[in-house]
Amino acid sequence: MEIEIRSPKSEVEWEQYYSLRYRILRQPWNQPRGSERNEGDEIGLHFALYENEILKAIARLDINDEKSAQVRFMAVETEIQRKGYGKQVMLAIENYCKSISISEIVLHAREIAIPFYESLDYQLVEKSHLLFNEIQHHLMSKKV
Ligand SMILES: CC(C)(COP(=O)(O)OP(=O)(O)OC[C@H]1O[C@@H](n2cnc3c(N)ncnc32)[C@H](O)[C@@H]1OP(=O)(O)O)[C@@H](O)C(=O)NCCC(=O)NCCS
Repeated sequence: MEIEIRSPKSEVEWEQYYSLRYRILRQPWNQPRGSERNEGDEIGLHFALYENEILKAIARLDINDEKSAQVRFMAVETEIQRKGYGKQVMLAIENYCKSISISEIVLHAREIAIPFYESLDYQLVEKSHLLFNEIQHHLMSKKV
């Protein structure tokens, strides 16, 4: 089994990347196609996990400043959640952050994803925003 974690490259790969983000993080709340994208996608770093060239999991990393970076739009295909793909993406992000001397990773976790981030040693900081009037988020952080 060949696992690769890298940015999408071809037009087809980018389409699959945004489709996964849309299907997991927007469509269940009846958001329109296109709502999965934002201007930060131009400058954000994109991590996509391919297993035998099939896309399984994604996340975006925004560099906030010299010391801090933020994970956004973390998503794993529904049928293959809880199989370690999310963790692999987060560890790749952490290693990348260490390599560029970032010392803190922050993120706004959906309530349902808090145990996932806690398992990776992220600490709850505070309650943050409510998305689509129903998805409570919590700010979490980790020193790396
Ligand atoms: C949350 C999400 C990214 C986690 O990725 P994943 O591939 O499913 O998680 P992993 O298999 O890598 O989990 C690693 C560890 O996290 C913990 N964990 C993950 N999901 C958990 C849950 N629902 N409850 C408790 N612990 C959980 C476990 O310790 C797990 O290890 P284990 O399966 O050996 O017990 C993924 O399930 C997902 O995309 N969910 C829907 C979208 C979403 O909520 N995205 C996050 C937005 S902030």
